[in-house]
Amino acid sequence: MKGKRFKEQILQPSASRLGPCAVIVRPMTGADLVVVQAIESENPASWSGGQLASELEQESGWQFVAEAGSGLVCGFVCGRSCVGEGELLKIAVGREHRRQGIAAQLVAHTLRYLAAQGVARCFLELRAANLPALALYERFGFRRVGLRKNYYTSPVEDAILMEKIIPALH
Ligand SMILES: CC(C)(COP(=O)(O)OP(=O)(O)OC[C@H]1O[C@@H](n2cnc3c(N)ncnc32)[C@H](O)[C@@H]1OP(=O)(O)O)[C@@H](O)C(=O)NCCC(=O)NCCS
Repeated sequence: MKGKRFKEQILQPSASRLGPCAVIVRPMTGADLVVVQAIESENPASWSGGQLASELEQESGWQFVAEAGSGLVCGFVCGRSCVGEGELLKIAVGREHRRQGIAAQLVAHTLRYLAAQGVARCFLELRAANLPALALYERFGFRRVGLRKNYYTSPVEDAILMEKIIPALH
């Protein structure tokens, strides 16, 4: 998505924010893939259904969906972990469900899951103009640890690398 569009989203009045939406966050299954792919396809550089399905096969992978009371899947997150480090690969919420706290619930669940797995730090990367995602990650204590110049294509754009140290569970 181009920077201008992100900025338009950022500037939306707070009236568009409906407050936390009641969802449950649960593991993604193969039965969720059609809806997850539909959500993913709304975004630039979206993964194919095949790529999403192959994540479900990853031994080191984790995938969660946010499901509304109606049973509708309205967002998802996925990533991988290896030797104490995690990487958040994808997070997306359906356009009509954004700004209702759903991504926040997905990230909170992911961080609890990673902590329980003994993962000590989580990395991610995002387009520099993706201000909604940047605000989301900063809200959860991710900090910038690097910049990859012109990393993305269509459009060409820098990638911001972020890291969060995950406190150990006692
Ligand atoms: C980024 C994305 C996942 C956020 O989902 P969401 O459910 O709308 O986010 P939430 O409602 O849970 O918001 C949580 C926090 O994120 C930030 N945020 C989310 N959308 C924002 C926006 N449009 N403008 C500014 N901040 C935003 C805020 O800090 C917000 O906290 P607040 O409500 O207390 O202000 C969603 O916009 C999306 O799916 N975008 C397309 C896919 C994408 O860019 N994924 C990230 C790739 S790295």
